[in-house]
Amino acid sequence: MANVERALRFIPAQTEHVAAMVRNETRSYAFPWTEGVFRDCIAGPQVCWVAVDDRDTVIGHAVFSVAVSEAHLLNICITRDQQGYGYGRAFLNFVLRELKRAGAEVLFLEVRPSNRVAAALYQSFGFREIGRRKDYYPAPLGREDATVLALQFEATDQQAADTLEPESARALGIVARQNRDPNEHPEQTPESDQTKRDHLGTL
Ligand SMILES: CC(C)(COP(=O)(O)OP(=O)(O)OC[C@H]1O[C@@H](n2cnc3c(N)ncnc32)[C@H](O)[C@@H]1OP(=O)(O)O)[C@@H](O)C(=O)NCCC(=O)NCCS
Repeated sequence: MANVERALRFIPAQTEHVAAMVRNETRSYAFPWTEGVFRDCIAGPQVCWVAVDDRDTVIGHAVFSVAVSEAHLLNICITRDQQGYGYGRAFLNFVLRELKRAGAEVLFLEVRPSNRVAAALYQSFGFREIGRRKDYYPAPLGREDATVLALQFEATDQQAADTLEPESARALGIVARQNRDPNEHPEQTPESDQTKRDHLGTL
């Protein structure tokens, strides 16, 4: 995987990446996020990264949010013709590193039970099923449940926020941990994050 990770660069998504993200998303999902959702993510409290190859082609995107110590992976996508080469694993590895550095203690996500590839990927990282959301997703013949997965980070995994990528730190409103007032809470509340998630939908 080290080789695969070296072949990728992770860049904070900007407006100029939206078209590529929409194109990749549309190729990879039956019910893709729209351009407006990606624009909202870039402008909003979510953290949005793109993975680019050595030709600067966007081959994937990932969107997550963090509220206090809880993180939510809202989207991770590798464009269809690049799937199965280890890029998804490398991207998730990057996201987990960022979240640990941000001080997240647990990461939640939803996945379609029919999405065997994603389920295998998450299982290999140690995600555990913690519940189901009934009729959560649109599906070709109605609705599909979501499996809710969680990954608890070990306390020893958590690293100082001063090594967080600057763009994640900015988007999360984080300053280096040793300088942070312990009574200070991030501006983003769980409620506002939930409202945004309701708007976005999730994986
Ligand atoms: C899910 C996704 C991000 C995985 O990325 P990827 O680059 O295709 O996957 P990788 O090559 O990194 O493989 C990671 C793991 O996925 C699983 N996997 C990959 N391809 C698979 C296949 N054809 N069949 C079964 N499992 C597969 C394996 O567990 C694999 O680990 P391994 O190679 O160590 O065995 C990517 O396929 C994707 O974007 N799919 C469409 C969007 C999506 O479903 N996103 C997740 C929503 S919850």
